[in-house]
Amino acid sequence: MANFSPSFLDEVLSRTDLVEIIARHVELKKSGSNMMGLCPFHNEKSPSFSVSADKQLYYCFGCGKGGGPFQFLIEHDGYSFPEAVEYLAEKVGMEVPQDAQRQTGDEAREKKAYEMLVRASEAMSRALTAPTGSKAAEYLKQRDLPASIIRDYGIGYVPDGYGFMNKVFGSDARTNAQLEAIGLLFKGDHGYGDRFRDRLMFTIRDRRGRVVGFGGRVLGTGEPKYLNSPETNWFHKSDLLYGFSEHRDCIRKSKQLVVVEGYMDVLALATHDLKFGLAPLGTAIGERQIREIFRLCDSPVFSFDGDRAGRQAAWRALERMMPLLKAELTPRFLYLPEGEDPDSLLKTEGGQAFQSRLADESKPVLETWLLGLKNLAGQGADGRARMAKKADAMLATMTDSYLRQAWQQEVEKATGISLQQQRRHVTATPSPAANSEIAELNKIEDRFISGLMQKTERFRHLPDCAKNFFIGNDGVKSLYLRAFSIIADAKDNNTDIARQLTREFPDSQTMISRWVNQATVQDIEYESLLLDMESNDIRWHLKRGPGLSETVRLQKRMSELKSQQRKLTELLNETGA
Ligand code: GTP
Ligand code: MN
Repeated sequence: MANFSPSFLDEVLSRTDLVEIIARHVELKKSGSNMMGLCPFHNEKSPSFSVSADKQLYYCFGCGKGGGPFQFLIEHDGYSFPEAVEYLAEKVGMEVPQDAQRQTGDEAREKKAYEMLVRASEAMSRALTAPTGSKAAEYLKQRDLPASIIRDYGIGYVPDGYGFMNKVFGSDARTNAQLEAIGLLFKGDHGYGDRFRDRLMFTIRDRRGRVVGFGGRVLGTGEPKYLNSPETNWFHKSDLLYGFSEHRDCIRKSKQLVVVEGYMDVLALATHDLKFGLAPLGTAIGERQIREIFRLCDSPVFSFDGDRAGRQAAWRALERMMPLLKAELTPRFLYLPEGEDPDSLLKTEGGQAFQSRLADESKPVLETWLLGLKNLAGQGADGRARMAKKADAMLATMTDSYLRQAWQQEVEKATGISLQQQRRHVTATPSPAANSEIAELNKIEDRFISGLMQKTERFRHLPDCAKNFFIGNDGVKSLYLRAFSIIADAKDNNTDIARQLTREFPDSQTMISRWVNQATVQDIEYESLLLDMESNDIRWHLKRGPGLSETVRLQKRMSELKSQQRKLTELLNETGA
């Protein structure tokens, strides 16, 4: 991994504006000293995502994600750390130090692969407009795809015969090996050959928008109808969704998402200005893809063909979805008329009618499940028993116990059979906000350290005994003690503790981001917290049975603290704070 010097990273960060980076994805509104918006990491209706422009740290009080600019690019956009550094450095006009740029062989090869994939996509676009591509261009016209969509989604063409890739990239042994590694050439008995020939090409990007592979359709009829890139280091079919990077922001804004079967369906939707379609890459939708979908939208519609195969596919999707379901999620299922897909329907009835179908004809997941169970189990008493049995087994995979109970009751109502209360092994999903380190802090400690992080100068006025605070909490203690030495070394009053600590303790940046973004700790509250912290510290010492004179001293101090606390409480009541 590249090594960047701390001073270089500091300089990049000091020139970077976190608010600007986040505002590309999230609508932020001023709220107190911070900015608030809808969290881009999970679904929510009211904003719990806070960004501190001052400290350059964000935190979501709903899902517990937090950090600074690098972390945002890593977690939200899928950058690696060196990539995030390079990206920001370039953006703020800084040269990446030569030393850091000297990449390992692996990193250089990675980068080269992505560059080649983009070049391939561009070459395919050009081939579509060249004379050899006229047949493909004609085909696209016939399928109603406008030029803007063809351009924005990177649709192209590869001519018939062999040699297209070599014409673009050259044909030396190393190039051929690289082209094979990225899935564009195959190696046969007679050497290398183009994987894709005489096909309409769909560019497939990962969640960061990098080109990672292609889907190729025959023009007209032929077998196989679609040919995809093989699994490569860059192309993992079961992790990808077609349309994801193109539609992510639009899905968040419109709060709409529809899962369709094919590339052409995603594109037809986009053509009708419905830029919220996503499709798996010709395989049944898997758990990781469903997880990604729920992260984007809590009410996605999964659409399927109304025929037998479509119903089977819907059932498979439902089975995969069960463990991920929560009461807060409201996925729906839509069966289209037999033999139709979104593309064909949009062609005949237009976007408005399709929107109405999504709204009016889609069924809640529970209804779909009950219906599926009924169909699977069949008629009569034994049918009802089979239904109950199957339902019980499926319920066992659910992790939201409230939802599970509600669904169980529905099955009991439908079958008249009470389900066995098997002891289920349910892995309670820990709320990510209840980060273990945070959980170890009590409310007072938590607010107190927030107060310190929010206002660095408070550190300068701490009493001597404050060095003992957080003594029982290793994670926090090392941060906290480091803050003292930063303050002691600081040349001026401008040193921001929170920002510096996130750089020095990257593993704790979520915790620090939370402290910074928490409701502002006003001065009176802070004073009161400080008294509480000292009282707790004294209690801790008293419990250890110090000598007599020390005990007397501590008890005296304790009663002083109590009376100060009383005065503060009065003051608080007066000010109505
Ligand atoms: P059009 O016929 O062009 O409208 O495409 P479609 O998307 O309607 O095709 P279809 O419904 O037959 O298939 C849906 C999706 O399944 C496609 O977009 C592909 O991703 C995938 N698929 C279809 N046929 C094949 C195939 O022969 N091989 C592979 N690997 N995938 C296929
Ligand atoms: Mn179709």
